[in-house]
Amino acid sequence: MTQDELKQAVAKAAIAFVVEDEIVGVGTGSTANFFIDELATIKHKIKGAVASSEATAARLRGHGIPVYDLNDVTSMPVYIDGADEITEQGWMIKGGGAALTREKIVASVAKSFVCIADSSKLVNKLGKFPLPIEVIPMARESVIRALNSLGGEARLRVKDGMAVMTDNGNIIIDMLGLQIEDPVALEKTINNIVGVVTVGLFAAEGADVCLLGGPDGVTTLR
Ligand code: 5RP
Repeated sequence: MTQDELKQAVAKAAIAFVVEDEIVGVGTGSTANFFIDELATIKHKIKGAVASSEATAARLRGHGIPVYDLNDVTSMPVYIDGADEITEQGWMIKGGGAALTREKIVASVAKSFVCIADSSKLVNKLGKFPLPIEVIPMARESVIRALNSLGGEARLRVKDGMAVMTDNGNIIIDMLGLQIEDPVALEKTINNIVGVVTVGLFAAEGADVCLLGGPDGVTTLR
C-alpha cells in the first residue's frame, strides 16, 4: 500500500468516531484532507465542522459542509487530525503544515482527540521531526536565542525564499536535533518563552485515540 492509501484507510476508519447531529473539529494536512473527503459522504448526518485552518475551511466548504466559527460552539465531541510524530502514549509533534495554534485551540474545545496517521509517524521518542513553534514576528531573534539555549538548533521556516506565515500572521521556527525526554515539561517551558504563541508539542493534552494505518490494516491505540 502507498502512504496515501494508508492515509485514506485511517481517514475512512475515523468516520466511525464522528457523532451524528453534532459538530466535528477538523485538522489540517494531507491525512486530514482525506478525512474531509470521507466526511463529505456523510455530511447529511452531521451539523457541521470547525476548521483548524483556512485551507481546511475551504476544503470543507468545497464539499458543502457547513463551517462554524469556534466562538459560536461551546462543545464538540471529537477533533480529528493527523500528526508529524506520535508515541504510544498519544504525545504528538504537530505543525508540519504550520496550523499548530488553531489545531491546539480547536482540539482544546473537543472532548476527545482522534489522531489519524500512517504507521511511519509512530515513534518511541519525539524529536526527529523538527519541532514547530509559532512565534510573533518581532520576537524572532529573541525566541531563537532562548530556544538555542535549550539545546537543539532553532531555524526560521522559509519557503520559496520567504518566511512562512501562519493563518494568524505569525512565523514558524523549527527546532532541529531534539531528543524529547519529557514532552509535557518541554511543552510548558517553550510555551513560557515570551513571544512564543504555541509550541507544536501536544503532550499535556495528547491524542485519546490513534488510528494507525500499516500494511496489516488500521490499528487502534488508546
Ligand atoms: C499541520 C499538522 C498536520 O497534522 C501534520 O503536519 C501531519 O500532516 P500530514 O497528514 O500531511 O502528514 O500538524 O499543521
